[in-house]
Amino acid sequence: MIQFKLSPTTEIPAIDSIFLFGDEVPAKVLPFKKEEIAYLLNCRKQDAEALVVLNRYNKEGICTSIYVQNFDANLSPAESQEKLRRSAATIQERLSKAKIEHIAVSGEGIIPEEMAAFLEGLTLSNYRFDRYKAKKETLLSEVIVDNRFFKQDELDRSVRLWNRICQCRDWVNEPIMALNAEKFANILKEEGEKAGIKVTVFGQKQIESLKMGGLIAVNKGSVDEARFVILEYKPKRPLNTNPIALVGKGIMYDTGGLNIKPEDYMQEMKSDMAGAATMAATLLAAADNQLPIHIMAFLPMTDNRPSGNAYAADDIITMYDGTTVEVVNTDAEGRIILADAIAYANQFNPELIIDAATLTGAAVRAIGTYGIAAMQQNAENPMNLLRIVSNQVYERIAEFPFWKEYDELIKSEVADIKNCGIAQAGCITAGKFLAHFAKHPYIHLDIAGVAYYPKKESFYGVGASGFGIRLLYAFLQTYDIATQKN
Ligand code: BES
Ligand code: ZN
Ligand code: ZN
Repeated sequence: MIQFKLSPTTEIPAIDSIFLFGDEVPAKVLPFKKEEIAYLLNCRKQDAEALVVLNRYNKEGICTSIYVQNFDANLSPAESQEKLRRSAATIQERLSKAKIEHIAVSGEGIIPEEMAAFLEGLTLSNYRFDRYKAKKETLLSEVIVDNRFFKQDELDRSVRLWNRICQCRDWVNEPIMALNAEKFANILKEEGEKAGIKVTVFGQKQIESLKMGGLIAVNKGSVDEARFVILEYKPKRPLNTNPIALVGKGIMYDTGGLNIKPEDYMQEMKSDMAGAATMAATLLAAADNQLPIHIMAFLPMTDNRPSGNAYAADDIITMYDGTTVEVVNTDAEGRIILADAIAYANQFNPELIIDAATLTGAAVRAIGTYGIAAMQQNAENPMNLLRIVSNQVYERIAEFPFWKEYDELIKSEVADIKNCGIAQAGCITAGKFLAHFAKHPYIHLDIAGVAYYPKKESFYGVGASGFGIRLLYAFLQTYDIATQKN
């Protein structure tokens, strides 16, 4: 974790520093020498986005470096902010290689939003899942920020959000042998209590007596018990009358079950609880920063494994809401546990239900790893708000159609519906399956393409990305009940 300190420019000590050079001559802020400015301007002429490193040696021969990041101010606000997040990730890599732990950040010709984006990129790229490694990379521990850009409180609020993103990544990166449903539920209970919110954990017995048939069926093959976690953050004077329900897929590990995943398709499936981790982190960040919105999270958790007792294709499950489901493929398990969670959430009369789930390979095939596949039912206005916000924070969503014809594809001969359709439009039929259970305005987010990057992806890093938390947090921050009413 980086410790941030605000400091007046004049006090930014003579340590290694980063300077963001927007559209003015940087002489004003840091004491650049004449030759340095000439050199900088020349570099800038050749490449408007050049990263220029100025090295200075003192009498003792000790070198301090100034990383000057030029950037082109002619982009849209969202694009220039994203560019700065990405530049920060590049710089972080250089700093790490140079074993630099302390740095000062300043700039000229940039606005606070741009500085915030840069610090966001720096913080999020400074994360490593290294607790199992003997040799750890050097990371930034302290960053001194020019106090012209923020008040302490503004910076603190951002830092709390970034910390939750890193915490989400930790949860997702832990393998199943270290983090099963029971342990994850315990961690959330502890974290929730620290944050001062209400946490309810249903154990196996309660899940059974509630007749959450979907969660019970998927859990049958597991040696571990299932859990169902409910988080509730209710501020004193919420803007919304009814809660927003966040539902997250908590498959702690997805082997596919009896329809076991072949070859290397099983790899990375520790990340199949990223939806639950994302929703928990989002709610906790909202609570940390006291957003004026009443939010609940519903998180069904189990792993999906084959065993002598595992649920099988052809099984017919009676779900929490009484719907019967024909199992066609045990690897389409996420929708089965999520359906019970959505149905359970209905009773709180949420004004909006949003789920996040690493639900389908089909979503990845459709839009790749650049964004989230989104669908909605009776939630056109919230979806429009979500789209606007998603472009702003650059965690983008692509809306897929929810035509009624897709409903035909999940009709079953032997039950009310079945858990998968045909090969085509796989992420839509998965969404349609879930929408069957939602009795309130509903948005489905398939995060399969973005939750986990096997190779380093800029400030998202390698492994769990935390993608979607900034999006949902920004959505909650701008959420206004007016968007709900037509
Ligand atoms: N967890 C997977 C989806 C997934 C795939 C997430 C790749 C991240 C990366 C999900 O449970 C699954 O296995 N879905 C199947 C559904 C099929 C059997 C209808 C899929 O997408 O192949
Ligand atoms: Zn699966
Ligand atoms: Zn899965």
